[in-house]
Amino acid sequence: MGSLPVANVQALAAASRDVPERYIRPEAGAHPGFADCGVDIPVIDFSRFLDPDSSRDESSKLHLACQNWGFFQLINHTVPKEVIEKMKLDVREFFQLPLEEKRQLAQVTGDVQGYGQLFVVSKDQKLDWADVLYLNTQPAPERCLRFWPTQPLTFRAALDNYSAELKNLADRLLEIMAKNLELNPDVVTDKFKVGIQSIRFNYYPPCPQADKVLGFSQHSDADLITLVLQVNQVQGLQIKRSGEWFPVMPLPGAFIVNVGDIFEILSNGRYKSIEHRVVVNTERERLSIATFHSPQSHAMIGPLQELVRGSGARYKTVNHEDFMKLFFSSKLDGKSFLDRMRY
Ligand code: OGA
Ligand code: NI
Repeated sequence: MGSLPVANVQALAAASRDVPERYIRPEAGAHPGFADCGVDIPVIDFSRFLDPDSSRDESSKLHLACQNWGFFQLINHTVPKEVIEKMKLDVREFFQLPLEEKRQLAQVTGDVQGYGQLFVVSKDQKLDWADVLYLNTQPAPERCLRFWPTQPLTFRAALDNYSAELKNLADRLLEIMAKNLELNPDVVTDKFKVGIQSIRFNYYPPCPQADKVLGFSQHSDADLITLVLQVNQVQGLQIKRSGEWFPVMPLPGAFIVNVGDIFEILSNGRYKSIEHRVVVNTERERLSIATFHSPQSHAMIGPLQELVRGSGARYKTVNHEDFMKLFFSSKLDGKSFLDRMRY
């Protein structure tokens, strides 16, 4: 498990206005600008779950959002503003450090954590216009601190707080989602609780030929649910809907939440993971923080018995570790990874 080492994109972007051939993507095409054709993904108001007068209503709204979109914006969530703002500040500062400083946290062979690029599995594959810092954050005792920044000085504490808050929020969302699927509480404890959390800090440098590259190849996430925080106001996330790419416009302070492949498998396809990608800007860098939540490492990943009845299992059952190994050793290519799990 690991990714082949390739050029640092931030350094590449700073050094020259030429975009090397390996980053040119025919499929990037002309993409919509900022203001036009914004698609309104559903907005879920977390505070409405906490009020007995509105919680049912909001739960059915969430069910429809998961069924029909696989993506929604979450507002009025429980994560304190200070925790978010501190994380944003520290991650910006991290990516501004000199390259030699960041390279101290460079990925090593056989591990996907650290600073670098992900999903590069062959020498001739096309590359994404981004650098990432990827860390396993939960369970906390299994953290590999050698990859955790010590600059800025508060980074580790900020991430520790952010990680705990997001885990808590994800658990609460998963509980509501499981109720919406009328799952038995035992199953919820075993599979719909966050066991593993990992966080990817994404840095997308500006690109002189922004419409010819991709910041993040088309993919679906391999987890239960992902919560994405847009760090600065540069838009770039697009989701695939009815075969077309639509930009997502994050509301201030909102998390963009999406259903991942593991959720699709467990729910036997009731909720589907949706393909998405990132485009970049010609002038401005873009930063985002994607937080991935998966069940505990010993959970088996396969359709839940109670959702298989009648329709039959649509996906194979595999153990979680094999599932993740397979994911990280594949090139990102839409939902082709999930397709290998299908019957
Ligand atoms: C991801 C992802 C979106 C973004 O990290 O999996 O889809 O907005 N990120 O950076
Ligand atoms: Ni993603």
